Amino acid sequence: WVTHSTTEGVNIVMHGLEWDAGDELVVCDLEHAALMSPARVLAQRKGVNVSVAAVSPKASQDDILEIIDRELRPGVKLVALSHIQYTCGLKMPIKEITNLAHQRGIPVLVDGAQSVGQIEVNVKDLGCDFYAMSGQKWLMGPTGTGALYVARSSMELLEPHFTTYALEAERPSERLPLARFSLASQNGALVAGLIEAVSIAKRIGLGQIETRSESLSDLLRERISHVDGCEVLGPIAGPSTCGLVTLRVGDWDPSDLVEELEQQFGIAARAVHNPDGIRFSTHFFNTEDEVERVAATLVEVASRHF
Ligand SMILES: Cc1ncc(COP(=O)(O)O)c(C=O)c1O
Repeated sequence: WVTHSTTEGVNIVMHGLEWDAGDELVVCDLEHAALMSPARVLAQRKGVNVSVAAVSPKASQDDILEIIDRELRPGVKLVALSHIQYTCGLKMPIKEITNLAHQRGIPVLVDGAQSVGQIEVNVKDLGCDFYAMSGQKWLMGPTGTGALYVARSSMELLEPHFTTYALEAERPSERLPLARFSLASQNGALVAGLIEAVSIAKRIGLGQIETRSESLSDLLRERISHVDGCEVLGPIAGPSTCGLVTLRVGDWDPSDLVEELEQQFGIAARAVHNPDGIRFSTHFFNTEDEVERVAATLVEVASRHF
């Protein structure tokens, strides 16, 4: 179902479920505000207990499973987590988390803002109930586009939060099951842009994009490990890594460092919090030379700083 953003998809699910005071919602402490904000609103308006699992940015897949498993107590109504954590690039074992949650009859909502277009995502294989995504991030589509997947078997869990003319449609063709969740009309030009972005990604190959993005970020992590004063704050190797690399250079304020890199060297990174650092993203169109230039620049700025 086409939405306007990941945030819209997350809200459709969070506010579409039926909550009673005292029900529990499990999230983790690395989540984006797109997920934490509706969680906070549910706590305030419905008396939902939001259980925030502490997950280290360097947690192994087994650690994450153990932590989430402990949270799955009776009374939990939903587990809501990002597929890839936006600050540190920690990839979560969504398929295994979904298995655990489903064993206890708990549905799973995934925030896929940082995963779709970066890694291969097969919602059927993951088994999750709800998967929200953005068009404008790794897919490089237009801002103001996104999509929400709802597993057929989980459709009846949701009631529409916003009600629109789609609910009143007389023609059966307009009464598509997911149209019940539409928030507002879509801009046809933006949707066309999203469709084109998806078809470009498919032409390149989602598997190839993932492999390329990962190999460039591996190179960056490898180079950073030799830079004095530089520390990777997210996962270093293995199944938790992806094309997002977050690092710290000594105690350099992340925003100041981002500005320095952009103004002095024309390198674009972004400051993040929790963990506090600067984040690089390597996509398929980046080159090894660009990664080497970033690494050489970090050596230079780190040596000036210490
Ligand atoms: C993990 C995550 N979720 C949600 C969002 C918000 O995405 P959107 O603007 O499509 O709602 C972001 C944006 O950076 C994000 O990183």
